[in-house]
Amino acid sequence: NPPNFQMEESCGLNRANCRAKGGAAGFKVAILGAAGGIGQPLALLMKMNPLVSVLHLYDVVNTPGVTADISHMDTGAVVRGFLGQQQLEDALTGMDLVIIPAGVPRKPGMTRDDLFNINAGIVKTLCEGIAKCCPQAIVNIISNPVNSTVPIAAEVFKKAGTFDPNRVLGVTMLDVVRANTFVAEVLGLDPRETDVPVVGGHAGVTILPLLSQVKPPCSFTQKEIDYLTDRIQNGGTEVVEAKAGSGSATLSMAYAAVKFADACLRGLRGDASVVQCAYVASAVTELPFFATKVRLGRAGVEEIYPLGPLNEYERAGLEKAKKELAASIQKGVSFIRK
Ligand code: NAI
Repeated sequence: NPPNFQMEESCGLNRANCRAKGGAAGFKVAILGAAGGIGQPLALLMKMNPLVSVLHLYDVVNTPGVTADISHMDTGAVVRGFLGQQQLEDALTGMDLVIIPAGVPRKPGMTRDDLFNINAGIVKTLCEGIAKCCPQAIVNIISNPVNSTVPIAAEVFKKAGTFDPNRVLGVTMLDVVRANTFVAEVLGLDPRETDVPVVGGHAGVTILPLLSQVKPPCSFTQKEIDYLTDRIQNGGTEVVEAKAGSGSATLSMAYAAVKFADACLRGLRGDASVVQCAYVASAVTELPFFATKVRLGRAGVEEIYPLGPLNEYERAGLEKAKKELAASIQKGVSFIRK
C-alpha cells in the first residue's frame, strides 16, 4: 500500500495559496513521469520557475523520494507527490499545464517508433485522466514517438468530447535547441542569439531544420547544410549511442521542456509575441498534425505560422518528412479508433 504522502513545503500550503492568488501569476503544473530521467531534472527546473505556484509530481514509482528532495528547495512553488494510478486523478485536478515525459526511452539501435507499443498505452491512460480531471489544461507531450503520441492524445480527447486543438502540443523544442547550438558552432555565433526554425515532426527525416531561415541571416556551403541537417536529425541518436544503453537525452531534454513550458505559461499569463516551434493540429500542410512556429497565448496555440519560403533542398526534405509523418499519424489514430 503506497503511503498517502501528499507532501507540501514545510512553510505551509495556505501561505503559498495566498501568494498565488495575490496578483502575481501562479500556475499549477503537473509532471507525469516525474521520477524518470527527464522527469527529475524537469521537476527541479520547474520548481525554480517563478510562474509556477503549485507543482504536482506523478509517477508509478519513486515519487515520494523525488518529492521530498525537490520540496526542500527554497523557491515559491508548493510541491506535492502522487504515486500510482490510484493517485492520478488527484495529481491532475485543477492543473493549468500538464507535462508528459512518461514512458520508456530508446536504447542503441532503436527508432522512436520502436517505443510505440509501450508508450502509446501510457499516453492514452494519462490523457484519459486529463480529459476527466483538467480538460482545460495545456498539455505538453514529450513521450515518444511524439509524431504518434500527439495524434493519440487528440483521439482520446475527441472521444471524451474535450478536444481543443490549441491545447495539445508535442514538444519538439529539443530539436530547436540542438539546431541553435550546432548552427552557432558552425558559424561562430552565440547560441542564445541564434534562431533556427525546425518544422515537420520529431523523428529522423521528419525533423526538418529550415537553414535558409536562420536568424541572424547567414549563408552556408552545401557541405555545411548536409552536415547540419544530418546532425540535427540524428542528435537524439548521438546521445543514445554515447549513453550506450542507459537511456536517451534527459538533461538537454529537461532544459528544452522547461524552455517550452515556460513559453506556454507566459502565453497563459497574456504575454505578447511568445513564439516557439511545436507539433500541433495544423492546416499548414495537408497532414492533420505538423510542427511549425506557433504563437502561444491565453488559449494555448493562438496562431500557426506558415512555413515561409523554402529552397529546393528544404522542399525535397519536406516531401520525405510528410511521407513518414503521414504513416506515424495514422498509426496513432488507429491505435485509439481500432
Ligand atoms: P525514463 O525511463 O528515465 O523515465 C520515464 C518515467 O516514466 C519513469 O520514471 C517511469 O516510471 C514513468 N512511467 C512509466 N509508466 C508510467 C505511467 N503509466 N504513468 C506515469 N509514469 C510512468 O525515460 P526518460 O529518459 O525520462 O524518457 C521519457 C520519454 O521521453 C521517452 O518516451 C523518451 O523517448 C522521450 N523523449 C522525448 C524527447 C523529445 O524531444 N520529445 C527527447 C528525449 C526523450
